[in-house]
Amino acid sequence: RKLEINIGRKRYSSKTLNTKYTDQPEGPIYPLDVLRLDISKALHDISGIDHSLILNALESTNSMDRGDLLLPLPKIKVADPVAVANRWAIELSTHGCIGKVCAKGPFLQFFLDQRYLIQSTVPNILLQKGKYGQKKSRHQKKVVVEFSSPNIAKPFHAGHLRSTIIGGFLSNLYEAMGWSVTRMNYLGDWGRQFGLLAVGFKRYGDEKTLQKQPIQHLFDVYVKINMDLAKEEINGNSKCGISGEARSFFKNLENGDENAIKIWNRFRSLSIHHYIQTYSRLNINFDIFSGESQVSKESMNEALDIFRKNNLVKEIDGALVIDLTQWSKRLGRVVVQKSDGTTLYLTRDVGAAIERKKNLHFDKMVYVISSQQDLYMSQFFMILKKMNFEWAKDLQHINFGMVQGMSTRKGNVVFLDTILDEARDKALQIMENNKMKISQVDNPQRVADLIGVSAIIIQDMKSKRINNYEFNWNRMLSFEGDTGPYLQYTHSRLRSLERTSSDFTTDMLIHADFSNLNEPQLVELVRLLAQYPDVLRRAFETQEPATIVTYLFKVCHQVSSCYKKIWVSGKPADIAIPRLAVYSASRQVLHNAMSLLGLVPVDRM
Ligand code: ARG
Repeated sequence: RKLEINIGRKRYSSKTLNTKYTDQPEGPIYPLDVLRLDISKALHDISGIDHSLILNALESTNSMDRGDLLLPLPKIKVADPVAVANRWAIELSTHGCIGKVCAKGPFLQFFLDQRYLIQSTVPNILLQKGKYGQKKSRHQKKVVVEFSSPNIAKPFHAGHLRSTIIGGFLSNLYEAMGWSVTRMNYLGDWGRQFGLLAVGFKRYGDEKTLQKQPIQHLFDVYVKINMDLAKEEINGNSKCGISGEARSFFKNLENGDENAIKIWNRFRSLSIHHYIQTYSRLNINFDIFSGESQVSKESMNEALDIFRKNNLVKEIDGALVIDLTQWSKRLGRVVVQKSDGTTLYLTRDVGAAIERKKNLHFDKMVYVISSQQDLYMSQFFMILKKMNFEWAKDLQHINFGMVQGMSTRKGNVVFLDTILDEARDKALQIMENNKMKISQVDNPQRVADLIGVSAIIIQDMKSKRINNYEFNWNRMLSFEGDTGPYLQYTHSRLRSLERTSSDFTTDMLIHADFSNLNEPQLVELVRLLAQYPDVLRRAFETQEPATIVTYLFKVCHQVSSCYKKIWVSGKPADIAIPRLAVYSASRQVLHNAMSLLGLVPVDRM
């Protein structure tokens, strides 16, 4: 159904809101986009300045009192910007959907016409639902997001947790911006440690435990055999025993020995099987479980050939070395092949990138890896560049800082599901404090799990990726303050409002008459909702989840200040319906943004 809206000078329809405008090839068009176009058109008419120059100069504001959009005049290079701002403020104020223009020094602050704002934002959100805020592109581009990438038989550390959370978010964000996304997990599943693990399993392995808890069990075995190895080394018989056995097992693996491969494969596939279940608690599904083991000999040989052809390698004591200092001092020298002919982490990464380009034809590839590997990633990217791959420029390293003090009651070595279990149990304890409420929750365990996950994710995403933070159970699980549970609480509160007002259908909300909706707090809330599409685009530019988290808390705070004073229940329909429409639209925006971050919004808690 086409929604017709009659506002003042102009006639807007839901169709106009969704049409693609030629200056902006990628739709849909949102109210702030319409404002941008109206400003550029009106300003062009009075000044002759190029539309696109104006469009590019317009900025979002970080507080609502500075307008819905801001134009810093120095950016469009006018002489005497302060005087011009004052003059233009008067001339521009009655164009299109511009409701008010204020001059503040060399800035122009633009406010959307209030009626247009509400009429074009609220029904649109209710109509578009989960799609509100997204972008569609005509030529869908492809991105590969590589993230999480734990090492089999070694602990899943905080760096892997951050990579998982941030990578999951970035994948969702790319999708929302109209990209086709391949989620890839690049496991650390190759190398000498697998020889050691196989020897260890012979001594300490237990079939049943392996089936039940493969990740933990393999790790336990690995720890034990490493202790044995250390003893052996102290006693000075490292040539024969464990170490020799391990070496020969890995050699067999590298030579494709069937029996060795079979053992290794079981370790790998049981671990993956277990990981899939844990990742699903975080709402993440990988398209590809790749890994260091999956990089083919051919692509690594191709890499080595190009190294030689492009004169990149030198032989030093039988090993192949690339001297990167010729391009950048800080990059140093790197070994790409050991003297015994075995390959290395770096060479495997080069081979893997070549393969992925060939098989997946990406337009962009993102590696979500902790900042501890910053130097390594610069070396890796430089090498690809010097191999003359034109696609080397399409690779991006998304880095992040450290987490301090992550531990569980079971100790300092953390397993992903132990962290999630503990978060769930703690959330459940808090929920149980309110006996009345918890009795109404269908599946308290499941809800507690979702709240626990929210707590972990939001704690991680609250500040810029590069910042370190301290893992703090009490703070992140608090239901007050800017936490995951607080977001969930706000969402469930709005859900409960929708339930108690279910006499009013969605159709009635979409066609509400907003002409009497004037409460300043509610109007502010709608202005925030109108910003959401811009917030997504900004997050996409910075690749910072914090951009969205900050926005979410603003919405929540505004919702709670409205909720206390501006009531729906007990009001006559002509007042209740438009109010409920705004609350319902707010819930939808919360839902969309939370889902994008990786949270599953709950209906009751
Ligand atoms: N498995 C590695 C580690 O735990 C991370 C892999 C990162 N990805 C890559 N392409 N190097 O440190």
